[in-house]
Amino acid sequence: SCSTSVSNINHDFFIIAHRGASTYAPEHTIPSYELAKEQGADYLEIDLQMTADGELVAMHDEKVDRTTNGKGFVRSYTLHELKQLDAGSWFNQQYPKQAKREYIDLKVPTLEDILKHFGDSVNYYIETKNPIKGEYMEEKLLALLEKYELLQKGNKVIIQSFSENSLRKIHRLNKSIPLIQLMKYNHPATVSEEQISHWKAYARGIGPNYQMIDETYVKKLRDHNLWVHPYTVNHKKHMKRLINWGVTGVFTNYSDRGVEVKQGK
Ligand code: G3P
Ligand code: CA
Repeated sequence: SCSTSVSNINHDFFIIAHRGASTYAPEHTIPSYELAKEQGADYLEIDLQMTADGELVAMHDEKVDRTTNGKGFVRSYTLHELKQLDAGSWFNQQYPKQAKREYIDLKVPTLEDILKHFGDSVNYYIETKNPIKGEYMEEKLLALLEKYELLQKGNKVIIQSFSENSLRKIHRLNKSIPLIQLMKYNHPATVSEEQISHWKAYARGIGPNYQMIDETYVKKLRDHNLWVHPYTVNHKKHMKRLINWGVTGVFTNYSDRGVEVKQGK
């Protein structure tokens, strides 16, 4: 069925700004996060990569090629070298309708830049990407969150990963941070009781690609009180359908649309 109205949302429902307001500003830059905050997103989504000198930076890809004017792996750059790159002009070239002068020569932000900039004025939804054993991405992440006193306050920070190892490590280090196991299904998703108890040992919820899930899947997870945060949902029609199935949030490149849907528009 293709319902176009949304029944009352009587549970927490999070609009997660995927890479910031990444339709309107270069992903994972301060202006992109600023705009998402302005649009009323509940969470800023941040993907983490690590530099050669062990700094956590916000970038989706393992390589800088797509979102900066540089080339090669993030982990081959020191932070100082990475900070020389232009992380905004690619967006102006790629999306001329959204281009702005102020995007020229934006810098890749470190996680600390972001935490310093926004403090506790926003909620953070942080992904450990390509965590490598011995690089201490999880320890460094938790240390920064501690430093900015973000771990004492309810669900201010959610941590997500495709890596179960990474999530389990974080769970060992801190039992109170809500963790989301990301899933990428290649076939229509089904879920067993066994799978659910496995997830429940460490995760607060599941983040599946929305194209492969159905109402049965969502209901089953919700029956076990797991959050369901599908990615990346950009059309209102899809958001509404998912809400009617009972999902508890969506990742979207259009937090403006998400906020409208949440308001019943
Ligand atoms: O984190 C949810 C979604 O962002 C996962 O996919 O590749 O965009 O990080 P990706
Ligand atoms: Ca992500």
